[in-house]
Amino acid sequence: MLMWAGTNYLEMKRKSNVSGKIILALALTMLCIMLFKGSPSFGRPSPFSRLESGVTHVLVTGGAGYIGSHAALRLLKDSYRVTIVDNLSRGNMDAVKVLQGQFSEPGRLQFIFADLGDAKAVNKIFSENAFDAVMHFAAVAYVGESTLEALRYYHNITSNTLTILEAMAAHGVKTLIYSSTCATYGEPDKMPITEETPQVPINPYGKAKKMAEDIILDFSRNSKMAVMILRYFNVIGSDPEGRLGEAPRPELREHGRISGACFDAARRIIPGLKVKGTDYKTRDGTCVRDYIDVTDLVDAHVKALANAKPGKVGIYNVGTGKGSSVKEFVEACKKVTGVDIKVEYLDRRPGDYAEVYSDPSKIRLELNWTAKYTLEESLRTAWKWQKAHWNGYRI
Ligand SMILES: NC(=O)c1ccc[n+]([C@@H]2O[C@H](COP(=O)([O-])OP(=O)(O)OC[C@H]3O[C@@H](n4cnc5c(N)ncnc54)[C@H](O)[C@@H]3O)[C@@H](O)[C@H]2O)c1
Repeated sequence: MLMWAGTNYLEMKRKSNVSGKIILALALTMLCIMLFKGSPSFGRPSPFSRLESGVTHVLVTGGAGYIGSHAALRLLKDSYRVTIVDNLSRGNMDAVKVLQGQFSEPGRLQFIFADLGDAKAVNKIFSENAFDAVMHFAAVAYVGESTLEALRYYHNITSNTLTILEAMAAHGVKTLIYSSTCATYGEPDKMPITEETPQVPINPYGKAKKMAEDIILDFSRNSKMAVMILRYFNVIGSDPEGRLGEAPRPELREHGRISGACFDAARRIIPGLKVKGTDYKTRDGTCVRDYIDVTDLVDAHVKALANAKPGKVGIYNVGTGKGSSVKEFVEACKKVTGVDIKVEYLDRRPGDYAEVYSDPSKIRLELNWTAKYTLEESLRTAWKWQKAHWNGYRI
């Protein structure tokens, strides 16, 4: 009996403790609601969710990546409102943090973590936000890798562009600036490459981008959307003020671009440079490419956005018009870094083409755009960032 009475007493005490906790939780919840209601943003829609006269809201897909982050920086500097969508598969959240640090005022910049392969997530983004324009940078973008993982490239580039386009059409977004590539031309007989040069891509990366372009063009024939397709040549350099740079994942080094490899060699992260192919029909046997500075490239995007016209498609090469060979590139890199980089010459890499450089006269005449940076200047700004960021954005 005593024992029973003791159990009963403990049970009652436990119940009263539980009720006390519930009351405390309710009181705290009420307090939070009252504080939240009292906050200046309560009840007001997010500035990203409505169009505002005098403010252009641009969705930058892939804005955590190399080119996308530089584009977002330029747009923010020019007073655009920016939403970055990225799945961080390749980009750097730290690049977004740099931008957030620079443009922290409400309504300037938001970051949304999402995969463009997820159509439901993409539609939710378009339902909850009101965009004036989309700059679609997000993509996997390594020629060599595309020959090994073709399906991934078609899905990520072609299929995701279709998803973006459908969402834009469904939500009445008026302007698309599309990141295409000179890889869509393949290996043309004649140089320089104009926008009329036949597009005969020779690797899955170039083919996936060409298919995405075709989808956009077919859609445009019966749409009022303003479209600009920019076909970039090889992008190098970084923000001249040193805020952003190119910091690909270490695991991508092997597929990486020449500038990254040169700097890695200069920093002795890798023993030297492997130049793949010395028997191309070019002036010194190595591949010739047209290296365009990222600051010049984002300037072309801003001009494309300003000149985009409803129901019209503009297609432009974005390059310097000048080809540099891999050997010339390496010499410029040695000069800028001051390091005598070791070079090993190997056989060709599958999917590469001998010589590619642009004729940029169309973009000069129609959008009043020209490249300003020389190869050496671009390498100098990029090297400056590298030296200040030995571990990429982690410094
Ligand atoms: N770098 C060049 O030399 C070059 C040349 C021609 C064209 N391009 C094009 O420019 C664009 C940007 O290239 P980059 O060099 O900045 O590459 P990057 O890898 O630095 O950036 C791409 C960004 O897209 C994101 N991304 C990829 N797949 C995604 C997905 N499914 N959902 C959401 N985000 C995704 C990545 O996380 C990354 O942040 C690409 O479309 C590329 O094809 C680049």
